[in-house]
Amino acid sequence: MAQNWTPNSWRNMPIQQVPDYPDAAALEATEARLAKFPPLVFAGEARRLKASLAKVAEGQGFLLQGGDCAESFAEHGADTIRDFFRAFLQMAVVLTFGAQQPVVKVGRIAGQFAKPRSSNIETQNGVSLPSYRGDIINGIEFTEEARVPNPERQIMAYRQSAATLNLLRAFAMGGYANLENVHQWMLGFVKDSPQAERYRKLADRISETMDFMKAIGISAENHPGLRETDFFTSHEALLLGYEQALTRVDSTSGDWYATSGHMIWIGDRTRQPDHAHIEYCRGIKNPIGLKCGPSLTGEGLLELIDLLNPANEAGRLTLICRFGHDKVAEHLPRLIRAVEREGKKVVWSCDPMHGNTITLNNYKTRPFERILSEVESFFQIHRAEGTHPGGVHIEMTGNDVTECTGGARALSGADLGDRYHTHCDPRLNADQALELAFLLAERMKTGRDEKRMVVNG
Ligand code: PEP
Ligand code: CO
Repeated sequence: MAQNWTPNSWRNMPIQQVPDYPDAAALEATEARLAKFPPLVFAGEARRLKASLAKVAEGQGFLLQGGDCAESFAEHGADTIRDFFRAFLQMAVVLTFGAQQPVVKVGRIAGQFAKPRSSNIETQNGVSLPSYRGDIINGIEFTEEARVPNPERQIMAYRQSAATLNLLRAFAMGGYANLENVHQWMLGFVKDSPQAERYRKLADRISETMDFMKAIGISAENHPGLRETDFFTSHEALLLGYEQALTRVDSTSGDWYATSGHMIWIGDRTRQPDHAHIEYCRGIKNPIGLKCGPSLTGEGLLELIDLLNPANEAGRLTLICRFGHDKVAEHLPRLIRAVEREGKKVVWSCDPMHGNTITLNNYKTRPFERILSEVESFFQIHRAEGTHPGGVHIEMTGNDVTECTGGARALSGADLGDRYHTHCDPRLNADQALELAFLLAERMKTGRDEKRMVVNG
């Protein structure tokens, strides 16, 4: 067990991004209620995810992590969850084919409610109010009442997470997610895409593989592996009072686990080594993600690795790199070299969203080309360093929103106003997300072919 650690030891440390709750007693009472609620996930599941991520760290798998920037109470509903899950699973199939490796599926869902903000204050037309910090904390409406942090929202977020997780588990295990369905959805996407010709080759190869499996008697009816799928949840562990209330001892191992989600991550703004968020995360046994932005040095990263993963356990730590398409080449190599020099076991994942946000027509947006370009550079840099580009971390939705520009349908700045629904950062819509998967799968195949040529030649 981590030394001198308790689920509340973070309270003795400096902390960033804390909401200003006006009623401390009400907050305490809510946290006490939450502490009696059932866990959302089990320690055994978090361990299984860690084992899958350990394979990724060893170069034997690929991590697909994605979902909303911020889940919202307003968008909670069966269709939204279903459409996300459908798009996500299609991406996973395409990437599995591209990587020829198992894809570990982790949603930013069923708990992704709290948001770090660059400013405590938002000003509109000369009026300043406290910033929106996610539905678990305050309301997005630009009114004084809505922006007051309300602890009752934590109970609502917990209940929404439980309902979301319940439906996801049913989809994952109840037959909906069977490979044949996912394959048919994917063919539907390809048929309707303006880039159909480009995607058809890969889609046809997947179809042939499915036909071959059928011919030799492997089908969803007789193979649970084709009928069911492993799906895990994750969110940023930002609101530590909530996290603490859901931190429980696992009766099998005696270890502490965050039971608010399978994997939790530490944001780029809250990764100070002597601060509260690192303190909380070092003591729980879940797989942990660490956002790595341009200000992180090699030495700084090694210090954090030693705090978060002193035993150098593979699968424990995923480094989620988010530099920007034009900065990744400047920052990623020094982190890779520091980690390699010290022999640290990590999963390298690329978040091509958070370094590529621009403002266009008063909307925060992200150009698809820059997102693709950051992931491509990430792959190239890893190939050059001889390390494994282990995953991607994206903000996406299954809905047909207009939040990121570009993609096969060439969304423009003028289209952004049509269906701009996000409660925080702009997300790829279902088509853009799937396109990204196809384009990455193409690159992965090229990468494998090149490697084969080097080995054989
Ligand atoms: C996020 O993932 O939504 C986020 C705020 O990221 P970062 O901490 O990398 O800025
Ligand atoms: Co975001």
